[in-house]
Amino acid sequence: MLKAKIAGLGYYVPERIVTNEELTKYMDTSDEWIQERTGIKERRYADKHKETTSTMAAHAARIAIDRAGISKEEIDFIIFATLSPDYYFPGCGVLLQRELGITSQECGALDIRNQCSGFVYGLSIADQFIKSGMYKNILLVGSEMHSMGLDFSDEGRNVTVIFGDGAGAVVLQPTTDEGKGILTTCLHSDGTNAEELAMINPGSHGGYHLGTEKFGYPDVNTPGGVFVTQKMVDDNLLAPNMSGQLVFKTAVVKFPEVIHEALDKTGLTTADIDVLVPHQANLRISQFIQRSLRLPDDKVINNIQKYGNTTAASIPIALCEAWESGKIKDGSLVCLAAFGSGFTWGSALIRW
Ligand code: COA
Repeated sequence: MLKAKIAGLGYYVPERIVTNEELTKYMDTSDEWIQERTGIKERRYADKHKETTSTMAAHAARIAIDRAGISKEEIDFIIFATLSPDYYFPGCGVLLQRELGITSQECGALDIRNQCSGFVYGLSIADQFIKSGMYKNILLVGSEMHSMGLDFSDEGRNVTVIFGDGAGAVVLQPTTDEGKGILTTCLHSDGTNAEELAMINPGSHGGYHLGTEKFGYPDVNTPGGVFVTQKMVDDNLLAPNMSGQLVFKTAVVKFPEVIHEALDKTGLTTADIDVLVPHQANLRISQFIQRSLRLPDDKVINNIQKYGNTTAASIPIALCEAWESGKIKDGSLVCLAAFGSGFTWGSALIRW
C-alpha cells in the first residue's frame, strides 16, 4: 500500500528582526502586553524592496528539494498555501515555479487559501495525489508576507503584534515502507464566523464595513466598478480584523478535538505522540492544547516566541526546526494540528 512521506524539508525567515519594543514606536502597545497574551517576543519582516511571498517560498523550497535528493525538474506538482500572495491573481504556485526555474510544463501548480490551516490542507491534498499514484514528487509550501498588509495604527494593534513573515516547504514522495508516512489527515470547516478573522476588502461585494454598511459602496455602481475605493482607504478597511476572544475560545476546543479524531482513526493515543507541531497561533493556545492532551514540554514544539504567527508557514517552519534539532527521528510519531480563519481546522499524523 502506497503512502506519502516527507522526503525533504526547509524553511526561510527574513533577516530583519522586529522586537515588541520596536512595535511600540508605531502603536500604543508594550512588550509586557504582547508577551503576556501571546508569548511573542519578536517576529521577522521581509525586505519590501527585494522579497515577496514567492521569493521567500523559493528559499525554503530549494532547501527541501535538495534534502529530498531530487532535482527541481523532478517536481511534478506544486501546492502553495498563503493568505498574503504576491498578486491577487495569478496565484503564487506558478510564481514559485518560475522563481525556481522549473521549465517543465508537466508540472502542475495549485494555490490554496485556507489561511492557518493551509499547510495541513495542502498535506492532505498531496497525500491523496501520491496515494493514488498520480504524482511522485510534490512540493508543498506555506509562505506569508504579513508585514505588507497589517495596520500599524492603534486600531490594528490586536492583529498586527501577532503576525510575522516566513516560509516553510516540504517535498512529499511515495513510500512502501511498512507503517511509515502520513497515516491520516482530518479536515474541517465552519463558515458561520467567516468575517471574525478575515481581510474583507477589497472584494466582489464592492466594499464591506463590518457592523454598519453591507454590500456595495455608492461609488462602485458604475459599470466596471472600482475595486479599491477611496472610502475603503479613508475608513481604514484594507487590513485584517480579528475577534481575538472568539478565535481563542474556538481554537482551544477544536485543536484537541481534531487531534483526538486523528488518533482515534489510527488506533493510537496521546501517549503515542512523540512530537506535536501545533500551528503557532498563540503560545497560550499551544499551552492549553498541551495541558488538555497531557503532553510533556519536550513533545510540543513552540517557536512563536521568535517568529510570531506566520499562518500557513508556521507548521512547516516549526516542523523543520524540530527535525533539524534532532527532536524528530526515524520512527517518531509526529502530529500536526491547525486552526484558523474560515474557520477551518485540521490535523495530520505522520510516522517519520
Ligand atoms: N497592545 C496593548 N493593548 C492591546 C493590544 C496591544 N497589541 N491589543 C489589544 N489591546 C487592548 C484592547 O484594546 C483592550 O483594551 P480595553 O480593555 O481598554 O478595551 C484590551 O487590550 C483587551 O483586549 P482583548 O481583545 O479583550 O484582549 P485579549 O485578552 O482577548 O487578547 C488577543 C487579545 C488577540 C491576544 C487574544 O484574544 C488572542 O490571542 N486571541 C487568539 C488570536 C489568535 O490566535 N489568532 C490567530 C488565529 S490563527
